Amino acid sequence: MTGTNHAVDRTRVLTGDTPTGRLHLGHYVGSIENRLRLQEEHECYFLLANLHAFTTRANKPDEIRRDTIEIVKDWLACGIDPERSTIVLQSEVPAIAELTWFFAMLLPFNRVMRNPTLKTEIEAKGLGDQYPFGFPMYAVGQCADILVFRPAFVPVGVDQVAHIEMCREVARRFNQTYCAVDPHTEDEDHPARGGVFPVPAALVGRVGRLIGTDGRQKMSKSLDNAIFLSDTPKQVKKKIGAMYPGQSRQPDEPGDPDINPVFTYAEIFIEDTACVADLKDRYRRGDNIGDGHVKAAVIEAVNDLLEPIRARRADYEKPGGDDLIIDIIRDGTARANTLAEETLWRAKEAMRLGFWRRSLGAAT
Ligand code: TRP
Repeated sequence: MTGTNHAVDRTRVLTGDTPTGRLHLGHYVGSIENRLRLQEEHECYFLLANLHAFTTRANKPDEIRRDTIEIVKDWLACGIDPERSTIVLQSEVPAIAELTWFFAMLLPFNRVMRNPTLKTEIEAKGLGDQYPFGFPMYAVGQCADILVFRPAFVPVGVDQVAHIEMCREVARRFNQTYCAVDPHTEDEDHPARGGVFPVPAALVGRVGRLIGTDGRQKMSKSLDNAIFLSDTPKQVKKKIGAMYPGQSRQPDEPGDPDINPVFTYAEIFIEDTACVADLKDRYRRGDNIGDGHVKAAVIEAVNDLLEPIRARRADYEKPGGDDLIIDIIRDGTARANTLAEETLWRAKEAMRLGFWRRSLGAAT
């Protein structure tokens, strides 16, 4: 790793994914695209939130381990560059677990339970009241995931904004409680006024919420309406080909592109905006344009996007690919721990817990 790549003056960025399966197009336009852009100019940390996966799948450790490796393959396939960005394994950053304890004391219980993202998840996954203590706890843990890296930005999909808001609250409260930061201090001034933590901002991607191939719900693995980054051209063709265009019409009948989810994809994935405008116009007028025509254009655009991703992914699917991935996350996590331990020490000193400094052993 060259020194300039991790120069201290570059603004830090942190984001992460819970390894729950392969990444899909919703992840790509919601966050991955932003990460690719950000890694050009910022010091980026990408966290594998593998402990969070245990909140709903504690009995599936093998699956979680597999998903953890697979998600790194997806990241690298998309162009996340481990030479420039730091890939971090959450379960090997002890400072995250420790900060989670500190933050849990600063967040009222009811505040956590009111977190709208948690509420939505409980509903969507049909958890009722049958979830472990660790489930709401993960939202507190996510504040630690973020703040341990003291980042300026957190690129996420809209569904995560409520978590970032809670993280911002905890940062302010910590700084006010333990660092004598005045409660009237502007968010961006916290570090300058002596706060250990910045109040980081969420950065929502180009498409905050991508509709699934069912045309109704958000694209999600569990709803069976997702196009995965690792799908073959044939699978893409089949999934888009089977989409309901929102209306039943003949090629020469006027149609409404605004209620047709295939057009939503056209707008997002076809780069040539003039081409999209023309398709829409002809669709509105019923100018000899069948739904198959629009779908074909979208299928081509999606496959163009996925082709280089598939090619790069293939490199890691060769024998020894998993070992390569583990090397990458070991290196990244070691680098991350240097920063994480420094943050933890500053937090402990602020909390009058700075009795002595420790150092973590090297990974073996
Ligand atoms: N909860 C996030 C998700 O399900 C994943 C995540 C864990 C995360 N820790 C994070 C995202 C920290 C941003 C920052 O997608």
